[in-house]
Amino acid sequence: MHAASIVVVGTGYVGLTTGACLACLGHRVTCVDVDAAKVARLAAGRVDIMEPGLAGLVARGLTGGTLSFTVEARAAVESADAVFLCVPTPMGAGGAADLRAVESAVATMANSLPSDSVLVTKSTVPVGTARRIGDLLGRDDVAVVSNPEFLREGTAVADFLGPQRIVVGSDTPGAAERVAALYRLLEAPVVVTDAASAELVKYAANCFLATKLSYVNSIAELCERLGADIDAVTRGMGYDSRIGRSFLSPGPGWGGSCLPKDTSALLRIADAVGFDFRLLSAAVEDNLAQRDRVVAKVANAVGGELAGARIGLLGLAFKAGTDDLRDSPALSVASVLSAHGARLCAYDPAVTGPLPGMAVTDDPYRVARGADALVVLTEWPEFTQLDWTYVADLMRGTAVVDTRNLLSPASLRDAGLRWTGLGRSTNR
Ligand code: UGA
Repeated sequence: MHAASIVVVGTGYVGLTTGACLACLGHRVTCVDVDAAKVARLAAGRVDIMEPGLAGLVARGLTGGTLSFTVEARAAVESADAVFLCVPTPMGAGGAADLRAVESAVATMANSLPSDSVLVTKSTVPVGTARRIGDLLGRDDVAVVSNPEFLREGTAVADFLGPQRIVVGSDTPGAAERVAALYRLLEAPVVVTDAASAELVKYAANCFLATKLSYVNSIAELCERLGADIDAVTRGMGYDSRIGRSFLSPGPGWGGSCLPKDTSALLRIADAVGFDFRLLSAAVEDNLAQRDRVVAKVANAVGGELAGARIGLLGLAFKAGTDDLRDSPALSVASVLSAHGARLCAYDPAVTGPLPGMAVTDDPYRVARGADALVVLTEWPEFTQLDWTYVADLMRGTAVVDTRNLLSPASLRDAGLRWTGLGRSTNR
């Protein structure tokens, strides 16, 4: 397809990024959402999602007439060459993906799709969904293609326009290639395969990343017990190209809207076909253990008793660069601290309260005032720029638990504070 007519259903961070970027690649794109107020805001160029570069691309598409927004799904798809499904697939009962939004979108459009169009699933859907959508559609003249996305929140636009690979899978001959052609301006290896394999790539990749992080967090724990340094260990590992240097930073656990949901879903998928995916179960369990290890560190930092302790939290988002709190390990740590009776005050540059179990402030120094300990939970670079001598003056205690190994232990020591990181000796 040269300049194609494309409809994107769903305007979350995946859908809106997909729509705006496909428009930027020269296609005519209509984004559909059931939320009329959101559609009106987007049509006026107002982007609510914190995603660098996205608002600019939306504005460009609107001005250039290549991007539009509507609530009228049926009318929009009538002249489409390809329809991308980017609706949410949240964790449903028992950890399986909830496909109601996908199924309802397919049912709405089924009779309006033109002959020879392709229906593309971008949402992360269980293996076998493309086939199920094909049955639901009941149309031999419309092909279903799985084209999973690999966008990270906070770098979604850059990831879309500079992909490391494009994966397209279909059981209809030639259909996957037609979708791959939409990306022809992007230089990336293309994996063309069947629908089930494409669907599994997404889970396999996200679950591998989650397992890698649980492994690194366990190695960090070992480092502490053995007097080794996780920075040196991961540097030494990362130069091996089979391992790679990224995704090796220990933290308070992995979170966000994708890894926890996809690990649960793949465990369900494996279970349904009678496979006990023990490695992945262990990675998920270890992620909970990591949260408890962080809580134990904080308890230790305040002398063993969390009840009544005043704890300042720096960072709430699941990672820096986003305001997303979904499955944030910071909130998970906070809820256990609060359950143990700690009094919490939190600051995150991208998050405003209220939140249950804690006071949320817009001033990082207010978090320090009277605190027995500070806990860094999100790796916002601005935390390194705080006036740590002033922080030390404001605090009642001296402990800083840095779950991202973000701060300079020497600077904190100079300020009179006791730094504790992950996988590193406090004396270095
Ligand atoms: C993840 C994947 O990285 C994307 O490739 C995928 O497309 C996306 O899910 C999705 O399925 O849509 P994202 O959820 O934005 O992207 O977050 P990541 O950047 O992968 O971070 C996940 C978690 O791992 C965060 O809690 C982060 O703090 C943690 N992390 C990451 C570490 O603790 N250490 C690291 O070295 C890297």
